[in-house]
Amino acid sequence: MSGPADPEETGAAAGRTYWITTFGCQMNKADSERMAGILESMGLRPAETEQSASVVLYNTCTIRDNAEQKVYSHLGRQAQRKRLDPSLTLVVAGCVAQQEGAALLRRVPELDLVMGPQHANRLETLLQQVANGQQVVATDEHHILEDISTARRDSSVCAWVNVIYGCNERCTYCVVPAVRGREQSRLPAAIRSEIKGLAARGYREVTLLGQNIDAYGRDLPGSTPEGRHAHTLTDLLHAVHDVDGIERFRFATSHPRYFTDRLIDACAQLDKVCEHFHIPFQSGDDTILKAMGRGYTVARYERIIERIRQRIPDASISADVIVAFPGESDEQFRRTLTLIDRLGFDQVNTAAYSPRPGTPAATWPDQLSEEVKVARLQELNALVERSARSRSRRYLGRCEEVLVEGANPRRSDQLMGRTRTNRLTFFPARLADGTAIPTGALVQVRIEETRPFSLSGTALALSPEPKHQSSGG
Ligand code: SAH
Ligand code: SF4
Ligand code: F3S
Repeated sequence: MSGPADPEETGAAAGRTYWITTFGCQMNKADSERMAGILESMGLRPAETEQSASVVLYNTCTIRDNAEQKVYSHLGRQAQRKRLDPSLTLVVAGCVAQQEGAALLRRVPELDLVMGPQHANRLETLLQQVANGQQVVATDEHHILEDISTARRDSSVCAWVNVIYGCNERCTYCVVPAVRGREQSRLPAAIRSEIKGLAARGYREVTLLGQNIDAYGRDLPGSTPEGRHAHTLTDLLHAVHDVDGIERFRFATSHPRYFTDRLIDACAQLDKVCEHFHIPFQSGDDTILKAMGRGYTVARYERIIERIRQRIPDASISADVIVAFPGESDEQFRRTLTLIDRLGFDQVNTAAYSPRPGTPAATWPDQLSEEVKVARLQELNALVERSARSRSRRYLGRCEEVLVEGANPRRSDQLMGRTRTNRLTFFPARLADGTAIPTGALVQVRIEETRPFSLSGTALALSPEPKHQSSGG
């Protein structure tokens, strides 16, 4: 099955086009792909430009203030356009929509539809209400229906598959639980069937997604004789691993509080599961971690990393960190730096703390100044780059398996893809004998140049097609 079943444009959709801008995380991107799929099934086509689109949809993020502000500048422009052309349909979806709800309509009266992330799969129904002349706000807590639409995915090689929506944690800085709602795990059978469908359409890599993916299954019924939940992420990896055609599995985001040794063992054991772990630690100081409500200590985090490195020595490790959390002293900030120094990270996403509406930490009196935030962030980023640079060097001269995702956007004679450990890798688009390398191929690349966050090399050969072992034994 590919594409919308009915390309004939009839009725209301005739000649209509859409434009989606995605501001947020992987989950937000996955939602955009599903909404694009719904729009195409309704007969709309992708627009050439935002200015010419009949439906403009902003899928928004509110994780930090700067993410939220971005959407307002975009909205201003489209609101102006709408005043000249009332046939334009203007939609704000995602996390700002959920957070602001009807207030967004008051701020931008030109809006037709404000819809939270739990309503993404309902886009068609909501647009019908708009077509009936209503201004619609859909932000009520909603049971996410099994996704029966075919997402229109940006990549033809790598796909995201949601396995758990929402988050039940209460990190004191974070808006996600408020905007994404309670945890809702999908059933393993539904996930497996989506992955089989992806394999049938030629996808080769699947990333299982959840804000706290280690929570997968804890809301599903059943438990094992040992008292574990019947469905865990580890079980899920075992349950999907043998889908033919999919050569790589990834998962994100891991939470140190719930991360298990069983999961590390499964990753070591299951050969399609890539050697990369994204485990945010947020701070290298126990007092700050406690104030953040993270539920683990630095020592526990270090034990997890040690254990990974014992079992999977070459695994890459990435993380997220926040600096200048309320009350963070210089000494506490330095503990974050020394943790990075001690452990060595392949990649760290860094951010200065941003107070978010409705979160506890935003009301605390000991907020730090903009100067402190900027200075700490700069110092941290310099260290992260050094750490990534030194981790990258280990690839020099090695031969790495790379999954070809497509052309290097900056050089059309080159391809790009990622190593199993998730390093972006560039290489010429042909083998030595002149054979063109197709998108979706697994190639052996000899690494000749390393940079902090990417590698370059020469493709030596296509990887032999892996034999399909029936796993689960
Ligand atoms: N569920 C993931 C993170 C999701 S949000 C986890 O628990 O790790 C992605 C990242 O944004 C977080 O890891 C955190 O580093 C950052 N972040 C979240 N809220 C923030 C805030 N108020 N200010 C600055 N950074 C924030
Ligand atoms: Fe936010 Fe914490 Fe949930 Fe991650 S685990 S999404 S940081 S509340
Ligand atoms: Fe942003 Fe919402 Fe993701 S706030 S980070 S788009 S869950």
